Amino acid sequence: MMKEVNIGLIGFGTIGSGVVRLLKQNEDLIAKKLGAKLVMKKIADIDITTSRGIKINKGVLTKNAREIINDKDISIVIELMGGYEPARTFVLEAIRQGKNVVTANKALLATHGNEIFAAAQKNAVYIGFEASVGGTIPIIKTLKESLAANRINSIMGIMNGTCNFILTKMTDEDKPFHDVLKEAQKLGFAEADPTFDIEGIDTAHKMAIILSLAYGKKVNLKDIYLEGITKISREDIAFARDLGFRIKLLAIAMLKKGTVEARIHPTMIPSSHLLANVNRNYNAFHIMGDASGPVFLFGQGAGMMPTASAVFSDIMDSARNVLNGHNCRGPLRSISETAMTPIKLIPMDDIETKYFFRFSALDRPGVLSKIAGILGKHNISIAACIQKARGKRGAVPIVMTTYKAREKDVRKALEKIDRLDIVQGKTMLIRVEDDLN
Ligand code: HSE
Repeated sequence: MMKEVNIGLIGFGTIGSGVVRLLKQNEDLIAKKLGAKLVMKKIADIDITTSRGIKINKGVLTKNAREIINDKDISIVIELMGGYEPARTFVLEAIRQGKNVVTANKALLATHGNEIFAAAQKNAVYIGFEASVGGTIPIIKTLKESLAANRINSIMGIMNGTCNFILTKMTDEDKPFHDVLKEAQKLGFAEADPTFDIEGIDTAHKMAIILSLAYGKKVNLKDIYLEGITKISREDIAFARDLGFRIKLLAIAMLKKGTVEARIHPTMIPSSHLLANVNRNYNAFHIMGDASGPVFLFGQGAGMMPTASAVFSDIMDSARNVLNGHNCRGPLRSISETAMTPIKLIPMDDIETKYFFRFSALDRPGVLSKIAGILGKHNISIAACIQKARGKRGAVPIVMTTYKAREKDVRKALEKIDRLDIVQGKTMLIRVEDDLN
């Protein structure tokens, strides 16, 4: 008789349903690959009455997650309930019971990852978290295994489908921000609280996980510089187009002088670059390893079946561990948990990049020279300048792009410029990355 591995699922929402569906859909294939049958022994959720359109055997559904955690026959617990609590408590309890855990919970890992991974190392169990970043894209395995011998010089990622969907529609269909956000929510890939998407918090959670894998360091979420997409206007998108750029919410990590720069903000990138052509809800990662050179990963960053696919890669890894009689064949993240030390990221003030400014200024003699003068005094060199001709009245947009400048100098200069009586409103600043490989 074929061996069996019992699994239990906590959280029967969209992704949970996808996992159950995928097991039914590819049961034979999965059994063939494992040499064992995966049995979904129990599913816990607060709602066990609403139909998910999948036939579930009697006695499988329960409202009590501890029926799974305390079940001696279940060796793999899949946590897909999301949020911080009680997810954290359930995961820690499962670990202490010696169970392998599979989770897609990026908020949980970004915030309580150190506690969870330490407990897992202590109890010699495996934590699978491929679905926590980039949905279906195998970014976790790529960093942890495929590129294990590389020094990761940089990672640039589009890690939030909702933001990418909004920016794509604003760019290609000239639609306003809020209309597109509503569309994204209807399509089901936005977070329960969409401010997590549009303010970049979801991307920061994913970035913290990526940094811990790429650099083998404990990252403090609050140290990652974060700016969302809510201030991006159709006007900025149009100027970006004129300059040959597209605007993306990029998560950028770069190895600099032995430490790391990590920032998330709307970024202008050349419209010909691969990342600029990652549209709608798709996610992508551009990784530069010192031995590998560039690696590009692309796929659906959210959605029922694409995310279930990533969850399943971890379930199958865990099942193989269980079948082989060991729980964890390598480090949980990139190095042993005891060797993971905190990292001090480069302060945002000290980063150097290129900039796009959109000033709103009165169209009077000497305006350009005043602005240019302040920029010059702060070591900011102008690369290009566009001024639109005057309309009927009021301020005109003046757009400038710069050569590389220091963030601290840029902030000081803009503070002074925004205080000029010929400048109306706050100047828009978007960072430009145009020397991408
Ligand atoms: N809200 C996320 C997104 C879902 O829009 O990408 C996947 O983490």
